[in-house]
Amino acid sequence: MLKSIAIIPACLLLGAIPLLVGNPAPQAATANAFKVPPDIAAQTNPVKPTPEGLAKAKKMYGWDCAMCHGAGGDGKGDVAVQSKFTMKDWTDPAALKDMTDGEIFYIIQKGKGDNMPGDGDREKPDEIWTMVTMVRGFAKK
Ligand code: HEC
Repeated sequence: MLKSIAIIPACLLLGAIPLLVGNPAPQAATANAFKVPPDIAAQTNPVKPTPEGLAKAKKMYGWDCAMCHGAGGDGKGDVAVQSKFTMKDWTDPAALKDMTDGEIFYIIQKGKGDNMPGDGDREKPDEIWTMVTMVRGFAKK
């Protein structure tokens, strides 16, 4: 009786070893695999947003982004909080200062990792560039 009780935790432990050993590698591989193509990363925002463009970007943001990035860009949207995503606080001017416009553009268009969905073809490039301006605009001066 005692023996069989001891065997169960032992099996669980053994079963957990491949998980413990196996997990970090693929995760690290995904993180390393994400790279914005250099020609896109080098771009500076070519679009001077119009008031209408910005108004539209704000609407889109409310529908598609605020649930994670927060209405004010602080990264505390309901979905992000519930799912415990690691989010940057865009109201902090330091948050995006090391990212180029092109990198931000690319991530909005294509997404990044498992939790950041890309906009794909739903927005035209001009609209995405306007969104880049808006995202940067959350930073407190
Ligand atoms: C389901 C949650 C979710 C939604 C919806 C979402 N994002 Fe994200 N976003 C993330 C996460 C998580 C990251 C961090 C990804 C990483 O670094 O691995 C991220 C990263 C980013 C980044 C890169 C800078 C940073 O903060 O890391 C930008 C720019 C961005 N998102 C813009 C947007 C825009 C614009 C929308 C709407 C069109 C949007 N996101 C919708 C979760 C989301």
